[in-house]
Amino acid sequence: MWTDDLSVNSAVIDNEHKRLFELIDNFYKSIKDNSPKERLEELIIGLVNYTKTHFANEEAHMRTMNYPNLAAHKELHVQFVDKVTSYYDRLKSGKLILSIEVTNFLKDWLVNHIKGSDQQYAAFERTLKA
Ligand SMILES: [Fe+2]
Repeated sequence: MWTDDLSVNSAVIDNEHKRLFELIDNFYKSIKDNSPKERLEELIIGLVNYTKTHFANEEAHMRTMNYPNLAAHKELHVQFVDKVTSYYDRLKSGKLILSIEVTNFLKDWLVNHIKGSDQQYAAFERTLKA
């Protein structure tokens, strides 16, 4: 799941990213085990809530370094929260049959977001310290 090449040079943020991978993995396992819908709803809302906390912490971290791309980065966070919230709503109303594809979307989004956008602020931070 989380590997060293995903580091953003902040132990706090790296740990939050590790936790996100764990939550996605729990969700994946519950789908595979055919867990009841209520359990999946619980896990997905847990993921939404933890993601919101993490994004708020990460945005505060970017603010401390006066990161110039903060607004655009925040927008990506908003889009992701909206998307996961829509999975929750569709699951609750019985419109979404959760598949492994949903899990793959979450995992791929997270990996690509960290490797793309998050590592950009880490690179910016390094230029400040250089
Ligand atoms: Fe981010």
